[in-house]
Amino acid sequence: MKPTFIIGNWKSLKTTTEANAWFDKAEELLKNDPIAEHKTVVISVPFTLLPLAKERVAKANLKIFVGAQDVSPYDAGAYTGGVNVQQVGEFATHVLIGHSERRQFFGETPQLLEEKVKRVGQTAITPIFLVRSLNDAIPLGVTIVGYEPVEAIGSGRPDTPENANNMAKQIKERYPFVEYVLYGGSVTAENVAQFTQCEYLNGVVPGRASLAPEGFFALVHNA
Ligand code: PGA
Repeated sequence: MKPTFIIGNWKSLKTTTEANAWFDKAEELLKNDPIAEHKTVVISVPFTLLPLAKERVAKANLKIFVGAQDVSPYDAGAYTGGVNVQQVGEFATHVLIGHSERRQFFGETPQLLEEKVKRVGQTAITPIFLVRSLNDAIPLGVTIVGYEPVEAIGSGRPDTPENANNMAKQIKERYPFVEYVLYGGSVTAENVAQFTQCEYLNGVVPGRASLAPEGFFALVHNA
């Protein structure tokens, strides 16, 4: 079985109460349907929920990893509002960098994203670098890339598996240091297998489909 990554992304959603309810249900679902060995499942939560997520995963010994959705490009210091790599690393093993929503709504530039990758590279945290197309450069040191065409995000109109596979092939050819390419954009429990079956794809990045535990673990099961 080839390694398969499922990187859930809660975006700017969920309170502590909602997150606790998600983990209650996750525990129950995973008891009946454990995650297969070759699958790496990460749930990327808002900063405020990182301690809770880490604790819930550890307590119930869930086979999922906790991810952050962003990290400061600066080290510890006088950077008000910044959450640096050491702080993220206390709770998370993975971090999303370069999501199109960060680029669009927070004005994140290629230079800034490269700085973030550099900082993360000095730690044990695994970056998952997200690109919208081949026009987004991938910094050295990135081994996991998510290809997420903007039109497919949140629209219910995923890219075709053929096109996503072809993009993954091109990314791997252009950036030989990239080991795994994932697809994101309107992935569901119903369509996930079409993507994970593709030769050059190594997993998926579900947003909305990660919010309800039933749907998310059905997606993990089908991946
Ligand atoms: P979506 O989001 O699954 O809700 O389309 C994907 C993403 O933004 O990573």
